[in-house]
Amino acid sequence: MAKKLGLERINGKFRGKNILSLDQFSQKDLQIVFTKTRKLKENNPRKGLNLLKGNIVTLLFFEPSTRTFSSFAVAAKRLGAQTLELTDPMKVSSFVKGESMSDAIKVLNAYSDLLIIRHPVRGSLQIAADVSEVPVINAGDGIGEHPTQALLDLFTIHEKFGRLNNLAGLMAGDMLNGRTVHSLIRGLAKFPNNKIYLLSPRKLRLSKKDFENFQKQGIELAEIYKDSDIPKNLDFWYWTRVQKERFRSLKDYNRVKNKFILNKKLIDKYAGKKTIFMHPLPRVGEILEEVDEDERAVNLSSEIKNGMFVRKALLSLGLERK
Ligand code: CP
Repeated sequence: MAKKLGLERINGKFRGKNILSLDQFSQKDLQIVFTKTRKLKENNPRKGLNLLKGNIVTLLFFEPSTRTFSSFAVAAKRLGAQTLELTDPMKVSSFVKGESMSDAIKVLNAYSDLLIIRHPVRGSLQIAADVSEVPVINAGDGIGEHPTQALLDLFTIHEKFGRLNNLAGLMAGDMLNGRTVHSLIRGLAKFPNNKIYLLSPRKLRLSKKDFENFQKQGIELAEIYKDSDIPKNLDFWYWTRVQKERFRSLKDYNRVKNKFILNKKLIDKYAGKKTIFMHPLPRVGEILEEVDEDERAVNLSSEIKNGMFVRKALLSLGLERK
C-alpha cells in the first residue's frame, strides 16, 4: 500500500517531500531554496558534483517542454544523478496499450528515487503523488500550477531587487490558463505589500475562484484591460503567452491571441529605468525580439540560467543525504 504523501507543508524539511504547489512553501522555505541556489551558483555550472550519485531521477512528460525538461535533466546529471527520460509517453510507453497512470507510477517507483511529471490535467499531480512512494515534483499540471517556474521567477525578482515585499508588478497575457502566473501570484502573496496589475482580454481573466483565493492570501490584485491603464515605473512586467492548447477552437484562440504585445514603444511609454521584463517562455509573438537587446529584459538571461540552478537546489534539498 502506497503511503499517501499528498500536499504537505515543507516546514524547512525538503527531503522526501512532494513539490506540487507554492501553497506548501513558507517565506522561510523560499529562503532555504534561495540560499541553496546562490551556493550552487558560486560553482562553475559545467563542473559536475557528486552530491546525488546513485540516484535515478525520472522525467515523465505528457506535454512538450524545452526549459523545464532540459534544466531538470541537466541539473540532475550535473549533481551526479542519472535520469530516466520518458517524453511523449502516450506514444512511446505502455500508456498506448491502456496502462493506467497509477500502475505506471508504481512501476517507476521501483526504478527511481524521484519523479518529475508534467501532465495536461490540473490536479493530476496530486493524484500521482498520492499513489507514489517516492517524491513527486510538479513540472506543470494543465492550467493548475508550475511551482518550479515560480521559484525561479521569485529567485530572479529577489536577485534584482533584494526583496520580495513592497513590489508592484504587471502580469500580462493569459491569466485564466497560465499556470506560471497562478504559482507566481501564490508566491508573491506570502510577502507583505505586493500589488499586481493583471492585464488580459476579459475572456482570459483569472477565474473568480482563483481571484478570490489569491486576494485572501494577502496580495492586492487589480484587473486592467488596456495598455493605457498600465501604471508607470512598476518593478517588474511578467508577460505570458496565450495558452493555445487550452482552447476548444482555433477561432476562440485567434480572437484573443496577442492582444497585448511587449515592444519598445510600450516600454518607452510605461516602463521605468529599473523595471525588469520577464517571460516564462516559450514566446509566440507577444514579446518582440527587439526587447531582447534591452538590459532590463531578463527572460532570456537570468530566468533561463536561474531555472537550472533553482532546480539543482530543489533536487539537492530533496535527495541529498546529510
Ligand atoms: N517555462 C516553461 O515551462 O517552459 P517549457 O514549457 O519549455 O518547459
